[in-house]
Amino acid sequence: MALNLDGIIGNSPALAEVFKVLGKVAPTDSTVLVTGESGTGKELLVRALHRNSVRREAAFVPINCGAIPKELLESELFGHEKGAFTHAVRTRPGRFELADGGTIFLDEIGEMDLSLQVKILRALQEKEIERVGGTVIKKVDVRVVAATNRDLEGDVKAGRFREDLFYRLNVIPLHLPPLRERGGDILLLAEHFLSGHCNHKDRRRLGISDQAREMLLTYSWPGNVRELENFMERMSILCDGSEVLPEDLPAKIFEDIGEKPLRRVEELAPPRPAGFAWPTLRDMDDHQLKLKEFMEAIEGRLLDEALEQADGVKNKAAELVGIKRTTLIEKLKKRGLL
Ligand SMILES: Nc1ncnc2c1ncn2[C@@H]1O[C@H](COP(=O)(O)OP(=O)(O)OP(=O)(O)O)[C@@H](O)[C@H]1O
Ligand SMILES: [Mg+2]
Repeated sequence: MALNLDGIIGNSPALAEVFKVLGKVAPTDSTVLVTGESGTGKELLVRALHRNSVRREAAFVPINCGAIPKELLESELFGHEKGAFTHAVRTRPGRFELADGGTIFLDEIGEMDLSLQVKILRALQEKEIERVGGTVIKKVDVRVVAATNRDLEGDVKAGRFREDLFYRLNVIPLHLPPLRERGGDILLLAEHFLSGHCNHKDRRRLGISDQAREMLLTYSWPGNVRELENFMERMSILCDGSEVLPEDLPAKIFEDIGEKPLRRVEELAPPRPAGFAWPTLRDMDDHQLKLKEFMEAIEGRLLDEALEQADGVKNKAAELVGIKRTTLIEKLKKRGLL
């Protein structure tokens, strides 16, 4: 089955590697641990994982373990019985119960208290939970996916995270590379966000000048995709011309780049392999795709490349691949890119 990656932009080799693992693990019930710096798209990826699993029709229940006070987290996760504590005026099911048949997403799992980690381990191993103040044990059928921007292995060594839980969660590790390691994805995303915000504000689509592109490629993006999205929103409001120019970019970018040599757009193109190799059945199998989906994936890559070369100008992109503009638009709509 083709992966439904709606809304996840990028075709860098680093991201392709992530999608490859995603395609293999999504249909299984294995526990997945997603790691990556803040703003790299961990939540987006976990949602895609659920969407591509057999549980897709059942609930997806996220819980941010870092955002809920630790006294309340246990009852949020496992529920409580009436009278279990002062404010427990009525019985309430927890998120594990709500996720029965579906997926629970334990976000920022690294922030969880050691005492609660034991209970999570038990829920994972025994597939059963106990409400706070309860006496009965309930069976739950839940797939667990966790995410963190911390170095959990380091936390295990420092005694801040249980080793047994780490191994139980880390059955399939999925690491999202930081944006600075995704090469041309930076520009794809920049254009995607910029056109989205321009549309939203009903202003003409802004281009990005070559020099500004080089700066975006050279900047280290500590806040990753989220930071890029915010910058592009700002550009869509503050930029006066028809193109984003270096002087429009935030001072933070100039400071970070300093004396660094600028990365050039041309450097991005991967070296062309000698000769041309037609795809083989093995390639289809590697990607776990059937013929129609495989062809669509190839088409998608070519269209993305054409759009990138054409600076997002659809007429030009359509011309590059020899189709009508309207056909191109139809195809982009079908892929959820418009
Ligand atoms: N590849 C991508 N394509 C399109 N949008 C993306 C991509 N990656 C991230 N985003 C967007 O960037 C923002 C941050 O993504 P997300 O919340 O998934 O990151 P995160 O890794 O969970 O961050 P944090 O660690 O801060 O919770 C979201 O608005 C998301 O939609
Ligand atoms: Mg997140």
